[in-house]
This record gives sequence, C-alpha cells and structure tokens, in this order.
Amino acid sequence: MAVRHFLTLMDLSSEELNQILQRAIELKAMQHRHEIYEPFKNQVLGMIFEKSSTRTRVSFEAGMAQFGGSAIFLSPRDTQLGRGEPIEDSARVLSRMVDIIMIRTFDHAGLELFAANSKVPVINALTDDYHPCQLLADMQTYLEHRGSIAGKTVAWVGDGNNMCHSYMNAAVQFGYHLNIAVPEGFDPKPEILEACKDSVTIYRTPEEAVKGAHLVVTDVWASMGQEEEQKERERAFAGYQVTEALLDTAAEDVVFMHCLPAHRGEEISMTLLDDPRSVVWDEAENRLHAQKALMEFLLKEAQGLS
Ligand code: CP
Ligand code: NVA
Repeated sequence: MAVRHFLTLMDLSSEELNQILQRAIELKAMQHRHEIYEPFKNQVLGMIFEKSSTRTRVSFEAGMAQFGGSAIFLSPRDTQLGRGEPIEDSARVLSRMVDIIMIRTFDHAGLELFAANSKVPVINALTDDYHPCQLLADMQTYLEHRGSIAGKTVAWVGDGNNMCHSYMNAAVQFGYHLNIAVPEGFDPKPEILEACKDSVTIYRTPEEAVKGAHLVVTDVWASMGQEEEQKERERAFAGYQVTEALLDTAAEDVVFMHCLPAHRGEEISMTLLDDPRSVVWDEAENRLHAQKALMEFLLKEAQGLS
C-alpha cells in the first residue's frame, strides 16, 4: 500500500481525524502527568522550513523528542534545496534517511511533488493554500471546551487564505457550517470553495457571518509572503476587526480562536486575547498534542503497526 501523507485534511477520513483528536486528548493527559511514552526511539523527523515559525517548529521538535526520537531542522538557506536541487531529488534522498518529514513552504504543488517522491509520510506544516495541522489543534480545542463541533456554526472573519481553506475542508470533515466574512477580491480559491460549497456561505460583512456562531476565528490580514501588500490589505480589511462587541452577537457559548501570531489593533481588538471567550493559548498548546497524535498515526501506518 502507498505511504499515507497529510497534505490537507482531505487525506484522512473523518473517522481517522476524530480518532486523532481523541488520541491527542489522551497524549495531552499523559504529558501533563509527566508520563514517559517513547514509542519512536531512534526515529527521526526531518523539518523543512522555507518560512518562519515559532509554534510549528517547537511543537514538532518537542513532540518528537517526547516520543524518544529526534528532529532535524532544515532551512533552504543552508541546504541544497535553497540552491536549486530539484524537489524530487531532495525527497528521494531525505526519505531514505529519516522516518517522517514535515514541510512549511510556499507552493502547495511543490509539497505534492515532494510527497509523491517520498518513501516516508510527509506532513504539510503550512503552504500558501493550506494549514491542516492548525485545524487539528483547533478542532481538539473546540472539542475540549464545548464538545462535538458537528452541526455547529463557525464564522471565519478575514482573508480567504490558507487557514480559511483548511477551515473549509474541516467543515466537510467535521460536519459544521462555515460562514466566511471576506471583502471582495480576497475570496477563497474558487476550486477549493467549489469542493466545499455545501458547507460554506460567503458574506461581505462580519456582522452577518458572526451572528449566532459557536466559534469565531480570524487570522492576519497579510500572510507570510504578502508583506508588501500590508498597507493595501489594511485598507481592504478595515471593518473586519474582531472585537468583544462583535463576539457579543455570536452564540452565548461562543469561543474565539486565532492561529497566532496575532496583530493586536489590526485583525483583533487590543484586548480580545484577554477576553474569557478567547481560547488561543489552549489552541497553541494543542499544536503539540495534536501533531504528536498525527505523527503516531502516520508512523504506525507506515510501519505496519496499526
Ligand atoms: N500558528 C502557527 O503555525 O504558528 P507559527 O507560524 O509560529 O508556526
Ligand atoms: N495565514 C498565516 C498563518 C500563519 C500561521 C500565514 O500564512 O502567514
């Protein structure tokens, strides 16, 4: 059987995704009890970062260390990838040396090409189009705070970006409805929207999208690689800031999430992260537990242990 990768949420079934969330909750409890669990001694995670990261790097590296394995941080600045060695060749070589690979890069097609040439599981740690690992953490966080998200309404406020696309995929996989509030010109990609259209409604104002929502989410207005568009985007997204007053119009038990890093005073009010409805620190912590559950799933599958 071909090796399983995690390039988008659609690569696993809903049952498998829910199983990973349950396992993440168990691994979190074990971690909090300081229980030693080292099923992957001597195994190595390769981590390719073509964009900056705090949470993703530390959660993957710490997670693999806690599993008894180790991780190698690879940046294009000091590998041959940055000097033009073809992606296919890099994938063939690295996957003969390590047991699992995560990649944060720009072009999603480049990630697909890498995975197609890898003998070991490849995890998408963010591309221009998707950020599925963040969704595992977000779905775990909702489950812990409020129970099942199936049948609920989620409001995405802001750019139709990589996070928005993964929220669209998650709507299909986890069975919620996604209201997206996005200014014209910043819509999600049409082909991704088409595949999720029964689970998604597009609005042009945050007020319409957030009304009655059980989870409200936003993200930066200019993603990594769009820094030069910052000023133009600040103008386009004026009126899309998530504030305490906006959350007051959502469901009474609403929670607020943001993948971080956040820009206080831009996409969120200065004080929103301190609001009791914000669960962003639990959400950030869950990157560790959700990705440990994901790596365990993929490594066991790849090694025929499951
Ligand atoms: N949310 C997230 O992926 O954060 P980093 O960019 O710090 O990894
Ligand atoms: N949309 C953001 C997410 C950062 C975790 C970006 O791509 O920069």
